[in-house]
Amino acid sequence: MGKRLERVAARVVFDSRGDKTVEVEVTVEGHTARAAAPSGKSRGKREVVPFPEGGPEEAVRVVRDKVVRLSGVELEGLVAFDRLLTDLDGTPNLSSIGGNTAIALSVACATAYAASEGKRLYEALSELVNEVPALPLPLSNVLGGGAHAGPGAPEIQEFLLIPLGAKTMKQAVEVNVVAYRKLGRLLQRELPDFPLGKGDEGGYAPPIGNRKALELVRAAADETSDETGVEVGVGLDVAGSNVFDPRSNRYALRSEGLYLTGPEFKEYLVDLADEFKLVYIEDPFSEDSPELYADLQRDLRSVFVCGDDLVVTRAELIEHQVGRGAIRAAIIKPNQVGTVSLTVDAVRACTAHGAVAVASHRSGETTDAYISQIAVGLGCKVIKCGLIGGERVAKLNELIRIEEEIGAGKIRRLTA
Ligand code: PGA
Ligand code: ZN
Repeated sequence: MGKRLERVAARVVFDSRGDKTVEVEVTVEGHTARAAAPSGKSRGKREVVPFPEGGPEEAVRVVRDKVVRLSGVELEGLVAFDRLLTDLDGTPNLSSIGGNTAIALSVACATAYAASEGKRLYEALSELVNEVPALPLPLSNVLGGGAHAGPGAPEIQEFLLIPLGAKTMKQAVEVNVVAYRKLGRLLQRELPDFPLGKGDEGGYAPPIGNRKALELVRAAADETSDETGVEVGVGLDVAGSNVFDPRSNRYALRSEGLYLTGPEFKEYLVDLADEFKLVYIEDPFSEDSPELYADLQRDLRSVFVCGDDLVVTRAELIEHQVGRGAIRAAIIKPNQVGTVSLTVDAVRACTAHGAVAVASHRSGETTDAYISQIAVGLGCKVIKCGLIGGERVAKLNELIRIEEEIGAGKIRRLTA
């Protein structure tokens, strides 16, 4: 028997950057759930359109004028609402209701539906995909630049830490925090005038070159491994589309005075990976150069080259790029596709092809922690959700709560 969709409501709220976004409430069989959409700043070209023309205010109007018409329908399953939403939108890129509006509605509806069965969203999702709920390893942004910081910061967008051997979620977070604080001390020693300012995702944003930044992050990771006994891995999100300058056809590392061709930049990254023992490199190149991804993955067989803008959470793109050997991991950002169902398809594509699914926040976030529920339920081995700042730690604290519910020690590993 179906479950009745009773009420849909929306409002404009603010995200961690102070930008407007949309928050919704959906009631299914007397159970109300709320969800808010995050926003990206270094977005992939193939992502769905985040908001209808007119922005978040227009998105709220669309919910009030159009989506409310769906109230009263019977939902035949956890994600049955998604089809109704995409049909109502009627465009291939969700431009009439907006991908952010859609993901908030889709998540809130699935959460309310799960609640009507006495379940949390992660439990209902894990049943849907036949996964045993377990915790993802947190991949934490501790230093950053690119589109998430001001001028003078590194061109590489994110310097990341992952506590590879952590035994519990609580320990994993604690280890990353220890490393973050050590990094702060190292930065103060290196740059006495730097007031430890931060970028959009809570990592330090120092005026420093990429190589020097990586040196300090590696040192903080090594000291932390020695002190805690938990091996800490280092990774990067290059966000290559933003480093690439199409006019000169070069990867522009201004902080180091380097202007490199694609193959030269590949060699630069291979050297960094060898020297600093990287385990993970996300979006190393422009999203239009998958052949460079494949070259890098061939050169660095033990590294997880990960696609974000390259595959934008689309199952068919993930299958294609994993199949050709361009990547061994894919970022899962539900608002890149706009529905929980398409997110499920994307994670399934990873699992089926032996790639690591990395559930991910966006640079503009709210305190909503649905990404943590999705990561646990769908079987993502890693979650990239920041470390410092209320909207970042909200995701980690949700994982600590889930750990209490499913039992300690159920933590996934970074393996293919
Ligand atoms: P965005 O970037 O959320 O600003 O798009 C995050 C990322 O590139 O991973
Ligand atoms: Zn990215």
